[in-house]
Amino acid sequence: MTITLLPRHIAIVMDGNGRWAKNKGRPRIAGHRRGVESVRNIVDFCGQRGIEYLTLFAFSSENWRRPRSEVDFLMELLVSTLENEVQKLHANGVQLKIIGDLDSFGARIQKLVAHAQSLTFDNKKLTLTVAINYGGRWDVAEAARALAAKIASGDLLVADITEQLVAEAMSTAGIPDPDLFIRTGGETRISNFLLWQLAYTELYFTDVLWPDFDEIQLDLALSSFAGRQRRFGRTGEQIL
Ligand code: FPP
Repeated sequence: MTITLLPRHIAIVMDGNGRWAKNKGRPRIAGHRRGVESVRNIVDFCGQRGIEYLTLFAFSSENWRRPRSEVDFLMELLVSTLENEVQKLHANGVQLKIIGDLDSFGARIQKLVAHAQSLTFDNKKLTLTVAINYGGRWDVAEAARALAAKIASGDLLVADITEQLVAEAMSTAGIPDPDLFIRTGGETRISNFLLWQLAYTELYFTDVLWPDFDEIQLDLALSSFAGRQRRFGRTGEQIL
């Protein structure tokens, strides 16, 4: 399939791992394990396709409410995936970024994240951002806190706060806003993902469960994106 207009940045809510497993009579964690394979495939495929930025919602601030055993498994899966994949990502020119509130994690995870980020820092092929313990409202509140601290220290004037400055204070500073948002698993919600950054993003929802989201499914999302007209508040005639 030839895709004409490609998104620079795709953001994905990877939903449906639990149901995928349940449909097969397997424990939920089997779905998460299979979900990691989908992550691997989609990262490879985005690299091949020339997508510059991919942002994945791996664990939300709200996911702590799940049963303890599932939370523990997800954390272990994230850590082991990070440990096992970082060299391959690096060899493939992928820059890895982790966003989210990492303060509540132990030293082992923080060290691992710091190492992965510094190792891949100069890579240019694809920027892969993984959101862990992330919430869109947390991100906005953190930016507000950072700007308020600059005002308190006399480094910033209230009158000088602009949208640009707020964007630069968010965890996604330096990354362009997503062009395409994909949510798998049938729900049609943003679920506190990149609230500020999704202001003009094209939204794409599919019933396909994340473990079944493959290259064909991504191509369908890309075709849908290519067929849309992005107006950013202007009229259709102005765009044409
Ligand atoms: C949603 O499915 C999925 C998650 C909360 C976890 C996503 C994590 C991964 C795919 C694995 C690790 C990711 C990376 C980047 C290495 P769900 O459990 O809510 O499914 P359900 O709605 O069917 O219950």
